[in-house]
Amino acid sequence: MITTAETTEFDVVVIGGGPGGYATALYGAAAGLKVAVIERDKVGGTCLHRGCVPAKEFLETASVVRTVAGAKEFGVQAGQPVVDFAVSQGRKQKVVDQLFKGLAGLMKGRGIVTFDGIGTLLPGRRVRIDPVPGAEAGAAGSLEITGRNVVLATGSLPRTIPGFDVDGRLVMTSDEVLALDTLPASIAVIGGGAIGCEFASMFSDLGSQVTVLEALPTLLTGCDSDVVSVVARSFRKRGINVHTGVKVNGHSPNGAGTTVSFGDGESLTVDAVVLSVGRRPLTEGLLAEGTGVTVDDRGFVVVDEYQRTAAEGVWAVGDVVNTPQLAHVGFAEGILVIKAVLGEAALPVDYSRVPWAIYCHPEVAFAGLTEAQAKEAGIDVLVKKDPYGGNSRARILGETDGLVKVIAERLPDGRAGRILGVHMVGPWVTEQLGQGYMAVNWEATPEEIGQFIQPHPTLSEAFGETVLALTGRGLHVG
Ligand code: NAI
Repeated sequence: MITTAETTEFDVVVIGGGPGGYATALYGAAAGLKVAVIERDKVGGTCLHRGCVPAKEFLETASVVRTVAGAKEFGVQAGQPVVDFAVSQGRKQKVVDQLFKGLAGLMKGRGIVTFDGIGTLLPGRRVRIDPVPGAEAGAAGSLEITGRNVVLATGSLPRTIPGFDVDGRLVMTSDEVLALDTLPASIAVIGGGAIGCEFASMFSDLGSQVTVLEALPTLLTGCDSDVVSVVARSFRKRGINVHTGVKVNGHSPNGAGTTVSFGDGESLTVDAVVLSVGRRPLTEGLLAEGTGVTVDDRGFVVVDEYQRTAAEGVWAVGDVVNTPQLAHVGFAEGILVIKAVLGEAALPVDYSRVPWAIYCHPEVAFAGLTEAQAKEAGIDVLVKKDPYGGNSRARILGETDGLVKVIAERLPDGRAGRILGVHMVGPWVTEQLGQGYMAVNWEATPEEIGQFIQPHPTLSEAFGETVLALTGRGLHVG
């Protein structure tokens, strides 16, 4: 319901309450700015309600299944785990609801005014708020507010492909997968990017038969090829079928399932199809005539490196702009906008060095250039990669699939210079990337990092060991 605001003039009006929008709002309010957020659904956006958080919660369920299934090796008799997915779904929802409540409370506590409704930018940094169709009509009907600054943060929606109409049963996107309460016995995952690999890994661990169909030559395009090889090998070992370099031609439903045709006359009959072929920006109805904001031919709002649109005082952050579609990139863009609004010195986000974290099993995490990218850029590099098999904590956990790969520039005297890229695949690497991310972004050298002590035995010492070895003298690794 749209409530009548006591005031309609704000320092910052944010349209969209996902990670990009709520980070802008929280950071702005923390700086004393008067902030409004307009949200058509629930604050938290895709990340909290239909993306990162629920997906990782289900991946944790998958991890529990693996742990129980492997308990015997530790002398713990637990039997073969059986998944009651309705209970898993309930737990996921509890986690999401708790975080939603926390976020809403945090925003309220900072004095952020949240409007339930659909925001449309009008000329002159005015924003019209209309009731959400189907929602209880507010007493005030539509409302207009004004911002000294307006931040567009309307996010993205899953892409679909022709011939695959999403019905939530035979054909699903991430939105529907995350609301399932029973597990399909067999699944075709179309698209082997971050979402596809996370879902493939999760469904396989939960007991479904999974096939991934990817148009490009490899899974996880954009990741370092050594990392991709580890994930592909693990998927193979766990019985996930992966077809890369294949075009998906269509599907024909047949009773309970559907037959997907792909490649050169190949086909596959499954209970459900999951589309994970990317996400598109959500700008429908966002911009009225004459705002001056430009949108590119793919629908992204066009911004400069400070997130400024072509309209004075109008900014855009998160998935609605053409930058990596990651919640934490949205956070960084929101912080940048507020610093710029306050007239503070602020550095644009360096998109070539943001942290990436993909939560399939084994996990993937990286920052900076891949070996191929560094070489394509004509940089002479030193590369060191070490498997987790040599790491004591990984042995203790029984999780030795994976490696740490560090890429540094080679100085004219042959020593390692700045660290350009850190790529990890293996147990809990999403929690270990911090040091690598800092190293890349501080342009640290292996000599400098090698000064630091790594606690032993930890998984994170694998990074320290690899870096130390790049100085020419290693400890456990040579
Ligand atoms: P994506 O762009 O990462 O991967 C989509 C994949 O689908 C690509 O490999 C593409 O070649 C393939 N594809 C496209 N059309 C196809 C077709 N017709 N047949 C077969 N393959 C096809 O997009 P994804 O995985 O859907 O994720 C969306 C966004 O969300 C990405 O930017 C991703 O990085 C981000 N994200 C990041 C996560 C993370 O970092 N943990 C988790 C989830 C999403």
